[in-house]
Order: sequence, then C-alpha cells, then structure tokens
Amino acid sequence: MEKKNLDWSNLTFGYMPTDYRYVSYYKDGKWDEGALITDPNITLNECAGVFQYAQTVFEGLKAYTTEDGHIVCFRPDLNAARLKDSAERLEIPVFPEDRFVKAVEEVVKANAAWVPPYGSGATLYIRPYIMGTNPVIGVKPAEEYQFRILCTPVGPYFKGGAKPITIRVSDYDRAAPHGTGHIKAGLNYAMSLQPIVEAHQQGYDENLYLDPATRTKVEETGGANFMFITKDGKFVTPKSNSILPSITRRSLMVVAEKYLGLTVEHREVKFEELKDFAECGLCGTAAVISPVGKIVNPNDGTEICFPSGMEEMGPITKKLYETLTGIQMGHIEGPEGWVKVIE
Ligand code: PLP
Ligand code: COI
Repeated sequence: MEKKNLDWSNLTFGYMPTDYRYVSYYKDGKWDEGALITDPNITLNECAGVFQYAQTVFEGLKAYTTEDGHIVCFRPDLNAARLKDSAERLEIPVFPEDRFVKAVEEVVKANAAWVPPYGSGATLYIRPYIMGTNPVIGVKPAEEYQFRILCTPVGPYFKGGAKPITIRVSDYDRAAPHGTGHIKAGLNYAMSLQPIVEAHQQGYDENLYLDPATRTKVEETGGANFMFITKDGKFVTPKSNSILPSITRRSLMVVAEKYLGLTVEHREVKFEELKDFAECGLCGTAAVISPVGKIVNPNDGTEICFPSGMEEMGPITKKLYETLTGIQMGHIEGPEGWVKVIE
C-alpha cells in the first residue's frame, strides 16, 4: 500500500480528512452493523440532541507504525471501557466494547495510507465519538445516535516538540457537573476553551486546574494528567475523582514500577509540594509525555522552576518517555495485550 505524500515530520496537531470514517446508527433501541463511509460531513436536524443539550462523548487514541512495519494501536480496550463510562454518564447507549475495538481496527486498516511511517514522529490520531441525533426540545436523552470514528494524521500536541513548556495556574474551575459542552468521562471541554485562549494570550502553553473545593490540590491540565519525579527518584501522580483517568498515566505507573524499578505514588498532590519536585511532565495520548519546565501562578507571582530546566526533559522523564514509546513502537516488549496489531 502506498503512503500518502505528506510532509510527515512537519505535521502539527491538526485535522485533515482521511479517506474513510466509520459510522454506526442507533435506532429503535439497537446499533446497526456499521460501515466505512467516505463523506466527512454530517447532516443533522437543527434540534438534534447534540446541538441543543450537547449530548455527545468522545475518546482519543493513536495508531503507530512499528519498527518492523506493522500498524498497531495502544490499549484500545481501555478507550472502549472509558467511552462506556462516559456514555452512561450522559444517558447515551453504550457502543459494545468488542465492537469498538473492531471498528477502530477496521477504520485504521482502511486508512493505512494515512498512518505516518516509523521514525517520522507523527501518528494517526483516532477520535471515536457518539452523539444524539434526533430532535429533542424538552430536556431528555435523544432516542437516535451515531457512533463515529474519524482519523487524522498528527504531529506533536505542543509547539516546539520535546521542549519543556510553561503552564499557568487557572482561576477557572473546569469541572462543571451541570455545564453543557462536549464531555469525555465527565469532563467538560467547552468550559476549558476560555481558559486556554487566555493562557495562550498570556504566553502559557496550558492551564493547571486546582481542585474546585479547596484550590490546594493539583488536578490536571486541559488535555493531560500530571506526573512528577521527586528528588529521590519516586514517580508521583495526582489521584482525584474529577480528572480524566488517563490511559497513558495508568500505563506509565506500570512502566515506572515494572520497567524502571521506581516507587510509584498515586495520591493527592498539594500545590505547595510542587516546588520540591525535581521533574514534571504532562501525560496523555496527544501529549505523550511533554516535559514542564515552569509553573506560574499569575495571581500572586509564584513561579516554580523545576531543576530539570527549560532545555530538555528531565533524566527520569526521558527514561519513561523512551520506555513507553519503545513499547508503542515495538522495540521494547510491552505487557500482555498493550499493543494491538492491526496490520
Ligand atoms: N486529561 C484530559 C483532560 C485529556 O483530555 C486527556 C486526553 O485524552 C488526558 C488526560 C490523557 O488521557 P489518555 O492518556 O487516556 O489520552
Ligand atoms: C487526547 O489526548 O486524546 C485528548 O483528548 C487530548 C485533547 C486535548 C486533544
């Protein structure tokens, strides 16, 4: 199969339509058999549940080309399970988990020409989502839905690639249990748009959200969980019920303990503690591991500069990055079931 003629190494984290997308329709209480289609546009009624009450959920995962030329994806079963949790929270019918994994395989296979080559630094981002499609005007769940998967080739999430980023403490609380907006496992992304626009205007790459109740504990950023390394080499990551249960973070906890022999602490992390950590990173599908050099609280002028600096990843973060991506790219053997070979 011939690859598309793209400048793979210079892709940004953006959208471009690929040849195929997957769609399955839910009607009369059941999902149809699903199909690959070519039209990237969707026509819906003006009163569709997705438009009026933002009844929609999404996931995100990636397909990679491994060193020996296979196309694989990483732990899609966990995305299936998390989409189920998100769907239940919004009264959306669950798309069966085994069918989710099969649909991901099918749509990636059909778009194989769009999966960036090994070594390019780019990947195929896969975005499964479900939305309510029939008209609803009273506040209630829709009765008809579409489960869809789009794919798009992407480069690094943060400009500057592997260079450490600077983030600010956000004044905003993002968790908005009754807010409208597109939801992933209970998180409201529309509520994070104003904070991210502001952060960028002020020269920051991301927002650090604190727990809304006490504003003393570190939650996560707009699109990734946190990981920290202590001065004595422990791996620390925040535990909270109001952050996204990152698949990358859960995988890194295993990599840290089982591959690198680090002590792993999954616990509440106080903002006050940050100044004592040696390294800081953001972890997620899009972020992979993006090192954080500096955290600023613009309100009181607090500046936390991690000893690892603004030039490159801290040494332990780098080992974690190399081991995780080594597993994903197929040159380090991962735990059973982590790498799903598609082709
Ligand atoms: N937190 C938020 C808010 C996210 O949007 C994401 C990305 O999906 C993550 C964390 C990381 O989760 P994962 O590692 O499953 O991609
Ligand atoms: C992902 O990493 O898949 C996400 O959903 C993050 C998003 C901010 C692009």
